[in-house]
Parts: sequence; structure tokens; C-alpha cells
Amino acid sequence: DVPVIAVDGPSGSGKGTITQMLARRLGYHLLDSGALYRLTALAAQRQGVSYEDVDGLARVAGSLDVAFQPTPPGEPARVLLDGQDVTSEIRTETCGDNASKVAVIQPVRDALLQRQRDFCQPPGLVADGRDMGTVVFPDATVKIFLTASAEERARRRHQQLLEAGVDVSIDALLDEIRARDDRDMNRASAPLRPADDAQVIDSTGLSIEEVLGKVMAAAGQ
Ligand code: CDP
Repeated sequence: DVPVIAVDGPSGSGKGTITQMLARRLGYHLLDSGALYRLTALAAQRQGVSYEDVDGLARVAGSLDVAFQPTPPGEPARVLLDGQDVTSEIRTETCGDNASKVAVIQPVRDALLQRQRDFCQPPGLVADGRDMGTVVFPDATVKIFLTASAEERARRRHQQLLEAGVDVSIDALLDEIRARDDRDMNRASAPLRPADDAQVIDSTGLSIEEVLGKVMAAAGQ
């Protein structure tokens, strides 16, 4: 059996950085499931499919022409949509917000399910998302739920944006994070919650290295 390490948690909990580092250390593949929701939102926008058109969105999700490049285990992949590099386009706040809107639609989630499971290849997989341990990989070898206070997540996001040359107030980011949490946790389809057998790690006040250490320990490494 191919080992799967499922890492779920809210927006800004540091999952992206941690799962990338973890996959690299273990030599495992990496599934960035959020990217698939972001790509669905972007592809819908490009094809003129409205965010209210459930059937249209499910069709877009089911027919995404996406490639993650390069594929060596753990490398931060470049993302191609219809052969075009959209790596930075899908990272914008707007795209993330649109992703969380299409993610509430169950037929969209269904359409992305098999595509996510196909990432499970030897020697192993680190899966980053909201429902990795609950829905996509219910039999995952290790399940981790990574969280942090909303204030800390807003501060981290602020720092990240500053480094990218964008100055948004922490208060505005805190409002956004709370709105995203609310949508992710209170939706009917695959609401964000720790799997019953998940190990919860609170990263508030911890450095990336400290969090990675805890996650590695939880993964038995
Ligand atoms: O970390 P952040 O929320 O900024 O972005 P992300 O992980 O790329 O996910 C974008 C959005 O996709 C989230 O807000 C979720 O609503 C949704 N998502 C989901 O529903 N299920 C997943 N497995 C991954 C992401």
C-alpha cells in the first residue's frame, strides 16, 4: 500500500509550506488540492461559466486540462491550464476567494475526487487540503489537522503579501480569513473539520521548523 499523509486545515495555517517541505524530505509526491479548486474557478471565469451554474461548473471541473510541472517528488510544481502557465494567476486572493465559492458545490467536489486520488503513487503522497483525511483519503496512513489562531494566520498572510510587495491591513486580512473559515466550516459539502483519527497541531507561536518537527513526529518520522 502506498503511504498517504493527509494534512488538512484552515486558510493560512501554513499547510502549503509545511506539506512542500514534508514531501521533499520524504521524497513523496505532493497533492495541492486547493490548486484544483483555484483552477476550476479560473477555468470557469475564462469559459464564461457563472459561479451560479452548478452543472456548468461541474463540467469545467471534470474536464480541466491541467498539468503540474515538474513532477519530481516534493518540488513546488508549476501549474499549467490548457498548456498555459497560470502558477501566479491562481495564487491571487481573488482566485482563492472564487475557489472557496466553487468548492461549496458538491458536483464540483465529486468531479475532482478521482483526479485527486490518482496522485496516490509510489513511493508515497503528502496531500494538502480541507477534506484529505475525511473524504478523499479516508484510509490515509497519517492524518494531521494543522491550525492556528485567526489572528496569527492574518499576521502570516500580511507578512507574505508584504514580501510580495502588497500592503493590505491586518484587519482586512483578518476579516477575509474569518469569512473564509465560516464558508469552509459551515458548508454542507465536506465541511472543514478534523477527521476523527486526526492529530491536531496548533502552530500558533511556532516557527516553520518547529511545526515541521511536530508534523514529522506525528507522521512517525
Ligand atoms: O490556503 P488557502 O485557503 O488560501 O487556499 P487553498 O488551500 O488553495 O484553497 C482554496 C479554497 O479551496 C479554500 O478556501 C477551500 O474553500 C477550497 N478547498 C476545498 O474546499 N477543499 C480542498 N481539499 C482544498 C481547498
